[in-house]
Amino acid sequence: MAPVIRPRRLRTTPAMRRLVAQNALRPADLVLPMFVADGIDDPRPIGSMPGVVQHTLDSLRKAADEAVRAGVGGLMLFGVPKAEDKDAIGSGADDPDGILNRGLRVLADDLGDSTVLMADTCLDEFTDHGHCGVLSDDGRVDNDATLERYVSMSLAQARAGAHLLGPSGMMDGQVAEIRAALDAEGLTDTGILAYSAKYASAFYGPFREAVGSSLQGDRRTYQQDSANRTEALREVHLDLDEGADIVMVKPAMSYLDIVRDVAEISDVPVAAYQISGEYSMITAAAERGWIDRDAAILESLTSIKRAGASIILTYWATEVAAKLA
Ligand code: PBG
Repeated sequence: MAPVIRPRRLRTTPAMRRLVAQNALRPADLVLPMFVADGIDDPRPIGSMPGVVQHTLDSLRKAADEAVRAGVGGLMLFGVPKAEDKDAIGSGADDPDGILNRGLRVLADDLGDSTVLMADTCLDEFTDHGHCGVLSDDGRVDNDATLERYVSMSLAQARAGAHLLGPSGMMDGQVAEIRAALDAEGLTDTGILAYSAKYASAFYGPFREAVGSSLQGDRRTYQQDSANRTEALREVHLDLDEGADIVMVKPAMSYLDIVRDVAEISDVPVAAYQISGEYSMITAAAERGWIDRDAAILESLTSIKRAGASIILTYWATEVAAKLA
């Protein structure tokens, strides 16, 4: 029997497929995460993330300039302090001369308002135990003591020139505390990109190498359990009530259902973070010739957009933005 309805008609030619495509990536959708390290003379490759490096301040400026010229929507900066500068409370995080704040300052000087400069607002890069907060005597992450550190770090980052702060430690109340502190200091234009629904994920593995973190234990008492869905909505509602300007889901590819759920309830832009392990999986499979690298990258990013994220953090931001332009 010949079918009367033939969906394949709309797939017959590239032009037809282009006409009916519902989602397309724009360069400005893409945000480039970057690592800046203290005490190195040359950019240092990250073994588990081929193509990504820890930058010197010089190479950071060059790569940032290249990304902005390719049309990316923004830059998200992470700091990698020297091992000997790490301590229990992450003192390097709110030190104006800490590596992340120095990196923000040079980029703010170079780029001004020509891009959106974002900072990871979290202690794990700066603590010697690798946790996202300070520990209480029993070794657990102390929520409320950590908030004080986030407030201090936020003010330092805002003063260093970040347009958006990215609290990523999953402490309760972090958005409200940071918002109140920024406002009290007159920093009302500094926004908050909240890592609202952030899951405890095995896919962060390569990031630990990227920031030289030697995490003791895991993050399961603060990051969400991958078994849970409604908890993500609760976290997002809280962050919206606390004044988040953008909400983010992380990781992206294993959590596209969550991206969709959040997109349906959020009245602020939704971001998703295609994290280190997602980058490494595609890179490794492509290196072996098992998948088509460029096609896999575009498919993964388009899927995140289709799920409902209008902003995507990806280590391929510059490359993809340049190709799209
Ligand atoms: C916390 C933070 C992490 C990432 C971004 N911010 C690590 C973690 O929560 O364990 C992961 C990013 C990636 O894997 O690409 N500072």
